[in-house]
Amino acid sequence: MSRLRLGVNIDHVATIRNARGGSYPDPMRAAELAMAAGADGITAHLREDRRHISDADIEALAVITRKRGRPLNFEMAVTAEMEAIALAHLPHAACLVPERREERTTEGGLDVAGGHNAIAPVVRRLVDAGIRVSCFIDADPIQAQASKDIGAQVIELHTGAYCDAVRERTGEAERLLANLRNTAAEAGRLGLEVHAGHGIDYETVKPIATIPDLAELNIGHFLIGEAIFVGLVPAIQRMRALMDQARANSEAELAQGISR
Ligand code: PXP
Repeated sequence: MSRLRLGVNIDHVATIRNARGGSYPDPMRAAELAMAAGADGITAHLREDRRHISDADIEALAVITRKRGRPLNFEMAVTAEMEAIALAHLPHAACLVPERREERTTEGGLDVAGGHNAIAPVVRRLVDAGIRVSCFIDADPIQAQASKDIGAQVIELHTGAYCDAVRERTGEAERLLANLRNTAAEAGRLGLEVHAGHGIDYETVKPIATIPDLAELNIGHFLIGEAIFVGLVPAIQRMRALMDQARANSEAELAQGISR
């Protein structure tokens, strides 16, 4: 299993800043600290209603991530406005997400199979500009295949339903984890790079990190919440350590199984 990358989503530093207007706390300071703490990249979602990250944030993030040689993962709705912004800043990656103004967060994956005709040309233009395109989808092999068909190089699996099931002890967690595992394996067979994110915390990161086909996790809300209590650097370092530990344990179990 390869090392699992950690992308830190800093949206909710901007949420706190925007609660009072002004410039504090500064998402750029969070991005700098996150990279110093071991984040492999920075993720930010410029929502159509600009509820947290602003256009100026994206501009500044594009500059500082480039300076530090770390990837910026730009989460965006599939709209002409967001496409133009992506093409203006040329982030390393663009993650296409569904967006509804009334939702509190991104509640489900993008329907790539159903929206094929509208999404495919956007993917083509982003890929042609050198941006690595990922589709944020539910754990469904049909959506993984559709993402491959429209030319995306990456999928990001929505882990929200699984994480909610663990927290709320609904009894659905094992089935939802198996869906994530199976869709990741299927996407791997299709030649897609597989990421995962949404709702991940110190508990759910452990089983998720053992999914061998995953290359990257994108984590935001929980880390920014933990940062209030322990600081951003220790929160990221602990998440990083849990990811590495989970992968090492899973490799050791695999090796034991083989030698038995
Ligand atoms: N990945 C994607 C595509 C997302 O939209 C989000 C939330 O913005 C995340 C990961 C991170 O989710 P969370 O903030 O719950 O960790």
